[in-house]
Amino acid sequence: MPAMPEEIFGLDAALLMGLVTIIVTECPRAATASQWLWGGLWKSVKYAAHMRKSITPRSIADTITAAITMYAAGSIVLDAFSGVGGQSVSLAVAGLTVFACDINQTNVDHTMHNARVHGVAERLRMVCGDYFARIAGLAAKWIPIGRKFGAIHVDMPWGKAYEEEIYPLHRMGDGTLSAYDVLEAVAPLSDSFVFKCPRNVAIRDAVKLAYHVQSIKGGASTHTVAMPLVEVFVSGDKTVMAVIYIGDIAAKRLEDIAPPARVVDLTHKRWTIEQCAKSMLSRGKRVGCANVAFAPFA
Ligand SMILES: C[S@@+](CC[C@H](N)C(=O)[O-])C[C@H]1O[C@@H](n2cnc3c(N)ncnc32)[C@H](O)[C@@H]1O
Repeated sequence: MPAMPEEIFGLDAALLMGLVTIIVTECPRAATASQWLWGGLWKSVKYAAHMRKSITPRSIADTITAAITMYAAGSIVLDAFSGVGGQSVSLAVAGLTVFACDINQTNVDHTMHNARVHGVAERLRMVCGDYFARIAGLAAKWIPIGRKFGAIHVDMPWGKAYEEEIYPLHRMGDGTLSAYDVLEAVAPLSDSFVFKCPRNVAIRDAVKLAYHVQSIKGGASTHTVAMPLVEVFVSGDKTVMAVIYIGDIAAKRLEDIAPPARVVDLTHKRWTIEQCAKSMLSRGKRVGCANVAFAPFA
């Protein structure tokens, strides 16, 4: 059980405490950079050259898809900020129906092409438009009838802040996109969220994001935070990216993960997700649990 705020000796009483579990997943090696991105069909897919760094590599996309199919009930998944379809195609190949949204028409055209070459175009419902406008439209129709996605996957643009020491989740993309606002908009439409993020996100911000979703959905008290799961993808000694699982998908997946023997106290540290993973790997551990302190998002 996370401690009550007033129990945290030496920390600001306005801070909340939360636990987070971190797992490190090694990516299988690919023969070429193109196969790393798209697997065997790399010659048939289309994407603009500037999207190359944004595409979710195939093995990571497939690992996330496996978690969604195993732990998130329902066969319809929203892929918000879907880019050229790295995740959408993986989800559709696994048999899920995918609602996808991207603001860029060329990316939308490429996603539809990429779904076609994978033989899964009939499972993709693709729209071009601004995320907030599209989600508001969907929410107006779905909330009154209680309809929800089995899971929502969010891969926002990372932008220049990626070069900062600690990545700011409230200033993503061109600096005006906040992960907190993005998940807040979509919170009523699912109970399972999968949020892709850079390796230099502070581990406490992963918990803060989970707490924010929880409080928007009405489940948060000021004293407890449902534990998120952070999966860190590494390739050799390189940390590629991370994924924060929030809500039911995190709770269900955590039931299948053997808890580590001790909880590492990070309440006084500003460790990034990558620092957590490196520390774990240096001790030969692939699963870790940490206690963090964070200020709730206002
Ligand atoms: C990191 S990329 C997603 C990559 C994707 N997962 C893939 O594998 O292809 C982020 C995407 O967000 C889109 N985007 C940026 N702002 C948006 C907005 N306001 N609404 C919808 N899409 C947006 C960009 O066009 C870009 O394609």
